[in-house]
Amino acid sequence: RNLKWIIKCRGDIDTLNAPFLEIYESLIPPEEEKAKQKQLLASLEKLVCKEWPEARLYLYGSCANSFGVSKSDIDVCLAINDADLNKSEVLLKLADILQSDNLQNVQALTRARVPIVKLRDPVTGISCDICINNVLAVVNTKLLRDYAEIDGRLRQLAFIVKHWAKSRRINETYQGTLSSYAYVLMCIHFLQQRRPAILPCLQGIEATYSVTVEDVECAFFDQVENLRNFGSHNKETIAHLVWAFFSYWAYGHDYANSVISVREGSTISKRKKDWTRRVGNDRHLICIEDPFETSHDLGRVVDKFSIRVLRGEFERAAEIMQHDPNPCIKLFEPY
Ligand code: GTP
Ligand code: MG
Repeated sequence: RNLKWIIKCRGDIDTLNAPFLEIYESLIPPEEEKAKQKQLLASLEKLVCKEWPEARLYLYGSCANSFGVSKSDIDVCLAINDADLNKSEVLLKLADILQSDNLQNVQALTRARVPIVKLRDPVTGISCDICINNVLAVVNTKLLRDYAEIDGRLRQLAFIVKHWAKSRRINETYQGTLSSYAYVLMCIHFLQQRRPAILPCLQGIEATYSVTVEDVECAFFDQVENLRNFGSHNKETIAHLVWAFFSYWAYGHDYANSVISVREGSTISKRKKDWTRRVGNDRHLICIEDPFETSHDLGRVVDKFSIRVLRGEFERAAEIMQHDPNPCIKLFEPY
């Protein structure tokens, strides 16, 4: 391991708390925006129920996991309980219905990895993606939201990391960098690893919530109101955590051998998962285990070029946090 990992944090780190909190607060969506999202969901529900009376609509992704910044698009899942359903047919039918209701830019993407219908609502100005029966995403949305309720520092850290990743253009999976979902899992894992820990491992406590989705058992402790004091022995502030997060990913993480696992609340070895070699397109150059689909590495999109970009950005951020006189500006400078 690189010795830099045990470097001491700069002495004036706490002067950075106020500016980081200010950035965090500026990113929180205002209440009106949430109300508009609900309004759009309700009108979509009405339309959908005319065609499929049994169907349900669920919000997932950042509009529902509490890690959504202001002006995000919304992600909606249409759940239809029908074993031999043809997703493409449903999507095309749905696109028809939406189009005739004057929604804008309606587009069915039936060949995408996750097939969706895209649309824009002219009343609220919100854009929206609708997928079919992606119930695992609805469940992992709940897991993320439950973690966020345990300690406020998770939401602060994740907003700052997402904002940084978007500014530096490394939040683009089709270019080999990581999804927002992956960055939030990195933050959760990191806070599980602090000593004393700031977050528990919800899948390691006796489950109070359990569903089986596509043969995957999703079970975890969800009575998070009982865990509100969990992290209170750890007094680290947001600036210190931002510094430590980037130092960890720049110098502390063992890319060659380790997988981060929110499910286990620790790192696990690549060997144990058989993620040591390239299989098909999965290169496992940075390994982030999905908490439920455990054979799924969210780092699979990263290739030998983009891993250098990513690690370069982690190092840049760590250097700025350690030495720059004005990290809150420099960190987010557009790439
Ligand atoms: P922003 O839109 O960037 O604010 O973030 P987001 O939280 O909506 O994330 P993203 O668009 O990356 O993904 C939307 C949701 O899809 C996530 O919250 C997850 O629930 C789900 N998701 C995304 N990628 C994966 C994946 O690879 N596997 C699974 N199971 N779910 C995923
Ligand atoms: Mg999204």
